[in-house]
Amino acid sequence: MQVIKYVFQPHGDERGQLVALEEGKDIPFKIKRVYYMYDTAKGVTRGYHAHKSLEQILICIHGSCKIRLDNGYEKKVVPLEKPYEGLYVANNMWREMFDFSSDAVLMVLASELYDENDYIRNYDEFLQFVKENR
Ligand code: TYD
Repeated sequence: MQVIKYVFQPHGDERGQLVALEEGKDIPFKIKRVYYMYDTAKGVTRGYHAHKSLEQILICIHGSCKIRLDNGYEKKVVPLEKPYEGLYVANNMWREMFDFSSDAVLMVLASELYDENDYIRNYDEFLQFVKENR
């Protein structure tokens, strides 16, 4: 399984760091939605779903967390611990987010508006979907 982790270029100077993300330049899709998770309770795992067509980039802009990616054949755990790193998560990919530090803010850039019909929340259904859409 190929893991695509972007390393964004910070504009750093003596005042600090600034990261700018532009659609089509740094982000390979139209950004239709941004959401973020914070105050995640200790020990919590979130996600447990895949998307039929949605693409995302996950950026832990503060603190750290881990992402488990599963394409139905292989699983990989990717740590996110830098505000200038972005993990690309394609469609047809089961994801679980866990090991959040208490100060973690996980921001997600998404290619589509929120649509419950695009979710696959049942793991067996996901495996079936992957087989059918190879
Ligand atoms: P949920 O899908 O449970 O989050 P996770 O996949 O991280 O476990 O979403 C939590 C709630 O937020 C749920 O009621 C749906 C709502 N929600 C929106 O309204 N818009 C969004 O863009 C997202 C991602 C969630």
